[in-house]
Amino acid sequence: MKKFLVMLICSAVLMNSMLFANGQKEDSAGDTSKTVGVCMPTQSSERWINDGANMKKQLEALGYKVEMQYAEDDVQAQVSQVENMVAKQVDCLVVAAVDSSALVNALALAKDNDIPVIAYDRLLMDTDAVSYYATFDNKGVGTAIAQYIEETKELSTAKAEGRSYTIEFFMGSPDDNNALFLYNGVMEILQPYLDNGVLICKSGRTSFQETCILRWSQETAQQNCENYLSGFYANDHLDIACSAFDGFAYGIRSALEGAGYTKGENWTLITGQDAELMAVKNIISGYQTMSIYKDTRLLAEKCVKMVQAVLEGSEPEINDTTQYDNNKLIVPSYLCTPVAVDKSNYQTVIVDGGYYTADQLK
Ligand code: BGC
Repeated sequence: MKKFLVMLICSAVLMNSMLFANGQKEDSAGDTSKTVGVCMPTQSSERWINDGANMKKQLEALGYKVEMQYAEDDVQAQVSQVENMVAKQVDCLVVAAVDSSALVNALALAKDNDIPVIAYDRLLMDTDAVSYYATFDNKGVGTAIAQYIEETKELSTAKAEGRSYTIEFFMGSPDDNNALFLYNGVMEILQPYLDNGVLICKSGRTSFQETCILRWSQETAQQNCENYLSGFYANDHLDIACSAFDGFAYGIRSALEGAGYTKGENWTLITGQDAELMAVKNIISGYQTMSIYKDTRLLAEKCVKMVQAVLEGSEPEINDTTQYDNNKLIVPSYLCTPVAVDKSNYQTVIVDGGYYTADQLK
């Protein structure tokens, strides 16, 4: 009888370890669902709040548990958050980095603990711990912004017609790999017009190094714009603010108003990115000209497929295997398509698309 009992216990232990050998853990309540750690950069801009909420909702709908942390743009805080998630033995990590290159050691720790890592929106640089990357076509964001400027100001016929426009650039954070991609997209379209004199940048600041704004700071964008206006546009009009982010657009608006610009015919063409609620309201009221709509529901969906793939051995959808070299490997990626929105199409794209309701935009 004793022998029988020992055998019974042993086989129960064995079965248990076989059941959970694929990484599934059982907590004290007997819950076997896997946990996904989601590390987000900041709640200071609306898009990341939406990203986090969408990820949580979609992962939970599939039965995963979610541990989510925001680093509030503090690089060291994010390092600690990743380390903590590794210590808690989450089953998979999804990371949207504050600083794309600062997580190398923390991610090596994840790899040592067999925790797969997915890069979310921003590429994780200098690490071989990352399996997949879900993002938007970041160069495509830049070309969409620039093509909007090109078409709206009819730049292709400007030279022949003797027209020219002043322009200043407000580019993204130098520690975010997306920012350089976006800049390259912008310049692919606009550089020829800077070269032939159709676009005139009076500050002379056109390189990425000269126009990038650390941590995508709205305040710095406003300050830069104020400096440009007082230093170079005292007797001239700024026609175009080529801005890489809605947050910058808000700062630019304030700087323009501070310098006496008023909304209407002569208001500066201001671009943006993310189609935040406030930005769309500003587009409707005429304080911002356009933005780039990035459907974070779609991005979350693609990312969740990647999580499933690494945890359950399925195949995620990949549509780019060439562009995103993180200095260690070319990360298999899915690039969602960004869409330019302005007064003419926000209703169809954003309201009819169910991203914001007409009421929210009032
Ligand atoms: C994202 C943009 C966002 C920016 C600032 C970038 O990495 O791709 O959508 O506007 O960060 O938060």
